[in-house]
Amino acid sequence: MPPALSAEQIRDANTRYHDVAAGHYDSKWGIDFGEMGRAQVTAKARKALGREPTRWGRSLEIGSGTGYFTLNLLAAGLIGEATCSDISPGMLSALSANAGRLGLEVTTRPADAERLPFADESFDLVLGHAVLHHIPDLPRAFGEFERVLAPGGTILFAGEPSRYGDRLANVPKRFAGALAPIWRRALGAAAAVPDPDERPVAELERLVDVHAFAPGELAWAARAAGLTDVRVSGEELVANWFGWTNRTLEATADPEQIPWVWRQYAYRGYLALQELDRRLLEGRLPPAIFYNLMITARKRERPADPPRRRAS
Ligand SMILES: C[S@@+](CC[C@H](N)C(=O)[O-])C[C@H]1O[C@@H](n2cnc3c(N)ncnc32)[C@H](O)[C@@H]1O
Repeated sequence: MPPALSAEQIRDANTRYHDVAAGHYDSKWGIDFGEMGRAQVTAKARKALGREPTRWGRSLEIGSGTGYFTLNLLAAGLIGEATCSDISPGMLSALSANAGRLGLEVTTRPADAERLPFADESFDLVLGHAVLHHIPDLPRAFGEFERVLAPGGTILFAGEPSRYGDRLANVPKRFAGALAPIWRRALGAAAAVPDPDERPVAELERLVDVHAFAPGELAWAARAAGLTDVRVSGEELVANWFGWTNRTLEATADPEQIPWVWRQYAYRGYLALQELDRRLLEGRLPPAIFYNLMITARKRERPADPPRRRAS
């Protein structure tokens, strides 16, 4: 169990861990900024909204990392003007480099989700991916999302770990841990040798995740901030078990000795099972059992001014 930390310590751990992680983040997580990335992100937006996404004017991403969501949405033409914020300056530098390579224009601003340095009602979309579970005071952050959102605007967060999904994922992790020596022998790969330089980063990694959510908790945080039309859904079940099994196995081997064929099998298998989850399971099973949760909500339109009485 990670030690209990203050909110300030959690923010500090997140900044330091993600500053280091930024350098190899895209390769570690297979982040794509091509056709595949655009399709993935558009599909997530569609799933979260429960309808085809339409173009937003001004967007603000929270915890944008290297730009997976915003850069792909920009490239897909779903965002007009993009601002990306993150507590980690290192992540924002990596994002700017990615944007430059892709020829996309984006404003970056280091910011803690609980204290956003933006004026009230300045965005039509506030979004994020895999960030809410790092934020110590979630109600306060949702209060900020609501404040900077224009009336009628949308919030959209995806990729948040669900509490039961997270527990269920322990089964494939344990199974893979036990299977690892046989798997390595079958592939002819040597065991991984821990790099002592990586130890401080690995220790920080244990401190950065502070929540796994029940769907009702996310919905509550949005409603408590005054947001409306709240919708929580779940994604990835079988794909996730497959993914965790493979990642756990791979983490035990020298990465140089994992055959290309295995990597292809793991990657393509994951995509195929994502499709199976989408077609067969996501609409039928309760969001709580999926590994990832998504939430969308809206800020109410300002009530129209009452009609002026005509002077007689
Ligand atoms: C798991 S990464 C996800 C990055 C990116 N959204 C993606 O999906 O690839 C979490 C991101 O949240 C950022 N983060 C953590 N705590 C934060 C906070 N309190 N406020 C803003 N960003 C935060 C981290 O620096 C990191 O870039």
